[in-house]
Amino acid sequence: MKQRGEKIAAVTAYDAPSGRLADLAGVDWVLVGDSAAMTLFGSDTTASATMDEMLLLTRAVVRGVRHAFVVADMPFGSYQVSDGDAVENAIRFVKEAGADAVKLEGGGTSIRRADAIVAAGIPVVGHLGLTPQSATMLGGFKVQGHTADQAQRIYQDALALEQSGCCAIVLEAVPTVVARQITDSIRIPTIGIGAGASCDGQILVWHDMLGLTEGHVARFVKRYAELGEAIRSALATYVAEVRTSQFPEPRHTYTMTTLERERFELHQARLKQTLVRLTD
Ligand code: KIV
Repeated sequence: MKQRGEKIAAVTAYDAPSGRLADLAGVDWVLVGDSAAMTLFGSDTTASATMDEMLLLTRAVVRGVRHAFVVADMPFGSYQVSDGDAVENAIRFVKEAGADAVKLEGGGTSIRRADAIVAAGIPVVGHLGLTPQSATMLGGFKVQGHTADQAQRIYQDALALEQSGCCAIVLEAVPTVVARQITDSIRIPTIGIGAGASCDGQILVWHDMLGLTEGHVARFVKRYAELGEAIRSALATYVAEVRTSQFPEPRHTYTMTTLERERFELHQARLKQTLVRLTD
């Protein structure tokens, strides 16, 4: 798509129905992000996501998706310790969950890890700029690469990730000019989130873009729907209808034939008589 000049549309998803909807909408890339730790599991950071959780979510998304490329996020701790760990865990995403590729964050040792995973035959996506797994080290969820030195480091890491065989790079929260320079300098696609329009594609987090996130959302998020409000209002109507017996209506219930109903009532009447006799 990069070679054809077509933009890549990507979104995160964490279960089969979301994977199916993303696919039906024509999304090219579905990322099972470790953002699940925050969006689904209520954590303040992504660092708490585990292999078990990510495998479970990836398996579900893969069941919903037919066409899109499914990328599984390698959680914090699953690739930091050694190449061996990284390869073993990446293999689990492909074998046990059916992922098409895995994503890992950062430059430095992550470049070696990407190399090792690619050598094992698994496509790898890099992730540079704001890398949420190391947000504490980066001073919080903040824009990265806004000094020339930082920007140069991110640029060099992008070249190194391409060299290591990565098939794409996510660029998160970096100035547009830095993302453009990287995009123009590498042959693999860049997928931006808060990295401007010149990236080869864009990704947004499901809960952010659909209005399911409570409180602060980053400047780079565009809300395409207000599903949180739609769900709250639907549930409030449901509660009211249950309380006032407006729900269920006859059309939500099951009936019996007259014959079977009469036989059932006869059984009940006989049972009642027997009970009365026994109590007497
Ligand atoms: O985990 C995630 O959702 C991500 C996106 C922000 C790209 O890594």
